[in-house]
Amino acid sequence: MTAQTLDGKALAKRIGEQLKTEFAALKAAGKPAHLVSLSVGRDESSDWYVNNQKKAAEKLGVAYTAERMDAASTHEQVAARIREICARKDVTGMILQLPLPKGLDANELAKVIAPAKNVEGVDPDNLGHLMMKQYRNLPCTARAAIELAAESGVDFRGKHAVVLGRSVIVGKPAALLLLDKDCTVTLCHSRTPNLAEICRQADILVTAMGAKPGVVNGDYVKPGAIVVDVATIAVEGGKYAGDCDWESVSKVAAWASPVPGGVGSVTTQILFKNTLETLKRQ
Ligand SMILES: NC(=O)c1ccc[n+]([C@@H]2O[C@H](COP(=O)([O-])OP(=O)(O)OC[C@H]3O[C@@H](n4cnc5c(N)ncnc54)[C@H](OP(=O)(O)O)[C@@H]3O)[C@@H](O)[C@H]2O)c1
Repeated sequence: MTAQTLDGKALAKRIGEQLKTEFAALKAAGKPAHLVSLSVGRDESSDWYVNNQKKAAEKLGVAYTAERMDAASTHEQVAARIREICARKDVTGMILQLPLPKGLDANELAKVIAPAKNVEGVDPDNLGHLMMKQYRNLPCTARAAIELAAESGVDFRGKHAVVLGRSVIVGKPAALLLLDKDCTVTLCHSRTPNLAEICRQADILVTAMGAKPGVVNGDYVKPGAIVVDVATIAVEGGKYAGDCDWESVSKVAAWASPVPGGVGSVTTQILFKNTLETLKRQ
């Protein structure tokens, strides 16, 4: 068997085209979108994301303002700035860029962002609504992973889904989204014994570990499974690899997502999908 590719770039392009039309319609109706990004200090990879988001916003016709505070800012100073940004009527969404300088707690600051404007969806309010299946802003990467899996045309109902990784931004929300689609879900982590054996039971396998490139090989995959690789692991030459060993996984799976060109390509568009949906609700 040779797996068909879950093509993140193609899905991102389709989502982008749809979003562009919808943002234009909202703007014409007097509801323009405006995203504000707040960075504290400098971080190379985070600055890369900001640039990427800025370019995507331009293409979609969304106003994007990138703000930066001094690396020595205190919790209170950053919290006060977040409150000011969120209080502005012209700001429809905000992103607090990570990582933050040492001494600042990302979880505590995420709680300060007005939930309706937190387009990344990782705060107690948005996550609580996910838990209750009353979706508001969903964590972007988890949502991107499930939307990419859906590209296979799979009927999720009754399928066994295995998720590798239990982080708040990817693993846990991905597991909840799969549960809401009537999958039977197994959530694995670094203390899970017999990982390969559990993974081989998966009709849908979502890997989000990011520890070592290619650890998930063909032995972890049930023949005909759908495999979504969320991980982005920096490797030599400025390149990125995933959790999965594409060579062997693609010989067993029916569908598999590559790294790069898979989930990562979809995530930015999902950020703007959240931006659109939250604007419609405001
Ligand atoms: N494509 C995108 O847009 C995007 C966005 C966000 C993240 N990512 C990537 O996704 C990956 C995961 O990100 P994250 O933020 O969720 O990372 P994280 O917070 O470090 O969580 C990693 C999870 O994987 C588990 N894990 C690590 N090694 C394992 C092993 N050998 N066996 C089983 N489980 C193992 C950990 O278990 P414990 O809980 O027991 O420690 C943890 O739950 C990273 O590569 C990250 O770069 C991609």
